[in-house]
Amino acid sequence: AQGLTILGLESSCDDTAAAVIRRAPDGTGAILSNVVLRQDDLHAAFGGVVPEIAARAHAEKIDIAVGQALSDAGVALRDCDAIAVTAGPGLIGGVLAGVMCAKGLSAATGLPLIGVNHLAGHALTPRLTDRLVFPYLMLLVSGGHCQFLRVDGADDFTRLGGTIDDAPGEAFDKVARLLGLPQPGGPAVEAEAETGMETPRLPRPLLDRPGCDMSFSGLKTAVLRARDRIVEEHGGLPRAARADLCAAFQAAVRDVLAEKSRRALSLGPVTAFAVAGGVAANGALRAALRDVADAAGVPFVAPPLALCTDNAAMIAWAGAERLILGQRDDLTLAARPRWPL
Ligand code: KG4
Ligand code: ZN
Repeated sequence: AQGLTILGLESSCDDTAAAVIRRAPDGTGAILSNVVLRQDDLHAAFGGVVPEIAARAHAEKIDIAVGQALSDAGVALRDCDAIAVTAGPGLIGGVLAGVMCAKGLSAATGLPLIGVNHLAGHALTPRLTDRLVFPYLMLLVSGGHCQFLRVDGADDFTRLGGTIDDAPGEAFDKVARLLGLPQPGGPAVEAEAETGMETPRLPRPLLDRPGCDMSFSGLKTAVLRARDRIVEEHGGLPRAARADLCAAFQAAVRDVLAEKSRRALSLGPVTAFAVAGGVAANGALRAALRDVADAAGVPFVAPPLALCTDNAAMIAWAGAERLILGQRDDLTLAARPRWPL
């Protein structure tokens, strides 16, 4: 057995991505190329991702990303064993651009086509980076997602809980906007928070309720109210008060994520606690989650940032895992805007 070489495509949000990975027969993975063409500049003026603009950019760039991924890897398309593509969930125009491209490549070469759930891609990444074995606990925290998954197999996920409203990244972005900080809000708020005191104390939503569900939209409203109180009192938002608010907000997110992680880890034995998503880049949050894992006596795993945020290597890897389970799709593969795991 030679192992598997898989081409992966990802276009479900605002990054057009293609990658080639190789999975050896012993289960180890190698990333041969990982191309991400960002669209931030196209959306910056609108303060968020505009679906129509994203879809058009994906359609224009997906072929370029694929060509670059193959050439970076030094692999010809015909030498791949399968083509894996994000088939959802995500912005439908972008998902369609990727799925149509993958179908074209599959039809032209006869290579198997594998539709991958974007969330499964994130959730299986620690097996590529850290060779995690099932079952492990995964916390997915990004601008679009926030959920705990117990991963029992490459096709066996149990959602233990998640946000009932905003994702934490979304909350970081909105808080940054409220406080006049640049986008993406996460890194800006984290940098501000470093010099701030955690005052005023903001609510820790849903901490008093059992289970692993979370809520972040009230927290954003609490920041808005606190800001308005400060502005009223001082006739503006002093620099130090802004830093304090950032620290107070980040502390609330930290405490909620940590306590809910503690609960998720108490629900059953796992081999590790893994995190993924852009918010996992936050040093303060990461440290708190590491402490929770330490206290539970399980290893804490955070893949390198480029593999935590949206990328196609994770889709190619998840495709390899599906192929090994004997799963594949055909040209009837549908793009799905919603696709719970
Ligand atoms: O995973 P990602 O790149 O894209 C998706 O949302 O799918 O995550 C982006 C999100 C943004 O909301 C951004 O503000 C947040 O991750 N983020 C952070 C940090 N870096 C990025 N949030 C908190 N702290 C950070 N250092
Ligand atoms: Zn994602």
